Amino acid sequence: MIGRWTLRGAASEYTVAVPDHGRWLELVAWGPPGVSDGPSPVAYDGPVPFLTGGDAAPVEHATETGRPFAGADLVVGSRAAPRFTGADADADGEGGHALAVRFADDVNGLRVTLHYRIPPGTDVVERWVELANDGPEPLRLERAGSAGFSVPTPHGARVSYQWGQWAQEFQLDHVDLGHGAFLVGSAQGVPGHRYAPWLAVRDRGDEAQAWGFALAWTGSWEIEAERDTGGLTRVRVGRRLVDGPLELAPGERLTLPTAAGAFSAEGLAGLARAWHGYQRRLAGERLGARPVLYNSWEATYFAVDAGGQLELARIAAEIGVETFVVDDGWFTGRDDDTAGLGDWTPDPAKFPGGLDAFVADVRGLGLRFGLWIEPECVNPRSRLYAEHPGWVYSVDGRPLTEIRNQYLLDLGRPEVAEWVHGTVDGLLRKHAIDYLKWDFNRPRTEAGRAADIDGGHVTNLYRVLDELRRDHPHVLVEACAGGGARTDLGMAARADVFWPSDNTGPLDRLAIQHGFLHANAPHLLSSWVTDAPGLFDPRPRSLAFRFVLAMAGVLGVGADIRHWSAGQRAEAAGWIRRYKEIRDIVVHGSVHLIGGPGQDRCAVQYTAPDERTVVVLAWHTGRLDGAGLLPARPVRLPLRGLAPAARYRAGERQFSGSHLGSVGLPVQWTATHDADAVVLHRIA
Ligand code: GLA
Repeated sequence: MIGRWTLRGAASEYTVAVPDHGRWLELVAWGPPGVSDGPSPVAYDGPVPFLTGGDAAPVEHATETGRPFAGADLVVGSRAAPRFTGADADADGEGGHALAVRFADDVNGLRVTLHYRIPPGTDVVERWVELANDGPEPLRLERAGSAGFSVPTPHGARVSYQWGQWAQEFQLDHVDLGHGAFLVGSAQGVPGHRYAPWLAVRDRGDEAQAWGFALAWTGSWEIEAERDTGGLTRVRVGRRLVDGPLELAPGERLTLPTAAGAFSAEGLAGLARAWHGYQRRLAGERLGARPVLYNSWEATYFAVDAGGQLELARIAAEIGVETFVVDDGWFTGRDDDTAGLGDWTPDPAKFPGGLDAFVADVRGLGLRFGLWIEPECVNPRSRLYAEHPGWVYSVDGRPLTEIRNQYLLDLGRPEVAEWVHGTVDGLLRKHAIDYLKWDFNRPRTEAGRAADIDGGHVTNLYRVLDELRRDHPHVLVEACAGGGARTDLGMAARADVFWPSDNTGPLDRLAIQHGFLHANAPHLLSSWVTDAPGLFDPRPRSLAFRFVLAMAGVLGVGADIRHWSAGQRAEAAGWIRRYKEIRDIVVHGSVHLIGGPGQDRCAVQYTAPDERTVVVLAWHTGRLDGAGLLPARPVRLPLRGLAPAARYRAGERQFSGSHLGSVGLPVQWTATHDADAVVLHRIA
């Protein structure tokens, strides 16, 4: 063996080795601390009839010569297919948190460095690949996957994934894989609504151990899990090269997006906590309680006018909202979705006194102020398009594809990226704005240039967002793409919160949030209380239900509160007050997902870092008729991670940790009491 290295996480380790032949790096073991101390569960050096050794080996990042039949991560094309001969490595020996292993092909000049890092305190291994062409000829990368991960699944693989569509994102589902492959992905230039860039694999014989996968890339992507006849499931994670092969010119370097792998010995719920911990690190100093916001979209849609918005803001301030966001419709020419995108100046007809006077009025109510913006898109009916028709993705001589009556700006071009940056930066400098909802309401259809368009768009999007965040650190950014189509780890590092779905109907939303929280931390979950019946989901639920649901992440209100009764406003004020008391625990606490939207038990438990306070948000998912009238015992919500001998108090009630863990917190639903927020304090 040329080398063997172990990377250590908080409750996991990841061991890799370069075998004597030096042609690839392979996994030795990935699991709880100490798992590498024994025969590898994934190694194989037996016979491989009609295959090569690499096809059966747990190769970490395979070329087509290393793994010719079972699927490679890096495909350069047969004429230049790399064949590595030696490897060397740099490991940070002390912490065991980082590793770089280098391979080179002397014939074509390709050099590949596989980077590994487990951010301290997490159970997520980040993997990224640097490619360099040191040869005389250009190299064409037909496939440029970021990583292959190997999972031992001797009894069959249980693959969990999230499917969806607009207004129905993050639907958690599972499929059992005996043999063959399961593929999710997007060719839309955004992660998309159809699948979340997230996958989990468990062995069907032991579902407690879970391995998870995700990609930090806000463009087209794919994740594929394939179980081989030997019981190994290999997960390939990377970009989908929708614009054709990538060209790597002589002397050029390229870093592929980071793939992330997570491990938990506590099933999917534990895996969710691994992702949450990692995303909290991504947020860095920006992690903290998010303001309670009001967003006027569902109340006024495009019919924005200063008077109406101010009336909403006045009531929002009264009930305890902290940030008031004007959604779509505030800029010139924007009376519906057929015109205006691109012309980001406040409409004087809607703000006769000017936007600044309006903002001053909003601020005078003690609120901060936010705006919706969709700066990468343009309507054909706009000044911007009239002036720069050549800035959109288009193919010469062909009609353009309109989606939601709009085109997409070619952000990969420097002048367009500069315009987008300058426009948003200008708005932030000119007006007192604390919050941006950054939307993106159409996928890319046209290619237009012979280039890596997907890569160019994402790279410049990141650059623009990074610069804006650097120069305007107080401005919070909410990422949205017609709901949750731009939810991935690349965006989680650059946005403060995600708008996961346009569907705010209570029971639909419960399912959306249930899936979302499996992959994303609560500080990233923006959720509004809207009017009943919901736009999509008319099933009746109480105002309390809708508040408790929105409190599971970052609470917002999106209803037309001008029409709320004094009683409703008072109830809302009460919930908002309670949310402010618990939101630090929601953001920083350890999350336990209890049951789910299709079950009698449905709750989320948040345990404060000091473990002295536990917040339980619970919902009644079943029929309301008869609830509380017909004989029924309370639903019991088994809480997790509490010290058995400790005592907890919730109002007048007291429980032991053991009782809460084994029997569960009782909640008694009635037709009018269909949700609750219970706060338990440790008293002994
Ligand atoms: C998208 C968003 C909505 C809203 C509208 C405005 O659909 O998801 O929340 O902002 O755009 O046009």
